[in-house]
Amino acid sequence: GLEALRGLNSGRLRLTVASTANYFATDLLATFTRRQPGITFQLEVTNREGVIRRIQDNEMDLAVMGKPPEGLDVVAEPFMPNPLVVIASPDHPLASGEQIPLERLQDEIFVLRETGSGTRNTVERFLEQRGLTLRGGLQMSSNEAIKQSVQAGLGLGVVSIHTVALELELGRLSILNVEGFPLERHWYLVHRAGKRLSPAADAFRRFIIEEAHQHWRPPQNNAAVEPPQQSPGL
Ligand code: PGA
Repeated sequence: GLEALRGLNSGRLRLTVASTANYFATDLLATFTRRQPGITFQLEVTNREGVIRRIQDNEMDLAVMGKPPEGLDVVAEPFMPNPLVVIASPDHPLASGEQIPLERLQDEIFVLRETGSGTRNTVERFLEQRGLTLRGGLQMSSNEAIKQSVQAGLGLGVVSIHTVALELELGRLSILNVEGFPLERHWYLVHRAGKRLSPAADAFRRFIIEEAHQHWRPPQNNAAVEPPQQSPGL
C-alpha cells in the first residue's frame, strides 16, 4: 500500500517501555533515528503493570519489558541481559566486598519500588521462594527516587544495573556482593501475536534484535577505587 511505497521515509512508532528500560531506550532511539530520520516516535514510560495494560488495549506497536506477560498472546524476543543488583551507598558497612549471606538482608531497611513494578515482583518472588521477606521501610515509584534515597543512606535498594551505570562509574553507589545476586533477567521486545507491524515498527524491531546487545557494556563498579588524594594546599 501507500505506506510501503513511502518506505521508511515516514512513519510513526508508538513504543511503550518499562521505566527501567528508559535508561537505554533513548540511546537506542537516537542511533535508530540517525539512520531513519523520517520516523517519529511516541515513547511512553510506565511500570510493568502499565506496559501490560498497553498491550491489552492494543494502543502501541512495540513494548520493552523485563519478562513476557503471562496469559497474553504475544511475540516476545529477548535481546539484552538485565541483571538486578543490590545497591548501597559506598560508605555502607556492607559495601566492603565480602560475600553477604542472603538472610543478612532481612536486617536491613530497603527502599522498594511500588506494587506493579516488574523489578519489585522479581525480588519478592526470589525471596519468597527462599522463605525470606524484606523490610521495605520506604516505597518509591521511580528508579530515580530509589537511587537518590540509597545514595543518601536511607536504605538498600534492588534495581536493574542499567539504571545505575553512571552512579557506579562515579563511585556514588556500590553493588553489594550478595549470595544469589545478581538476579539474571533479560529485556524482551514484545508485540501482540498476529499484529501486522508497520514498516517503521518492523525496522525498529529488527534493529533492536540485531544490534541492541552491542550497546550493552557491563557498568564498572568504581566504588572500591580510592578517591583522589586532596592536594596538600586545600
Ligand atoms: P519496572 O521494570 O516495572 O520495575 O519499571 C520492568 C520490568 O522489570 O519488567
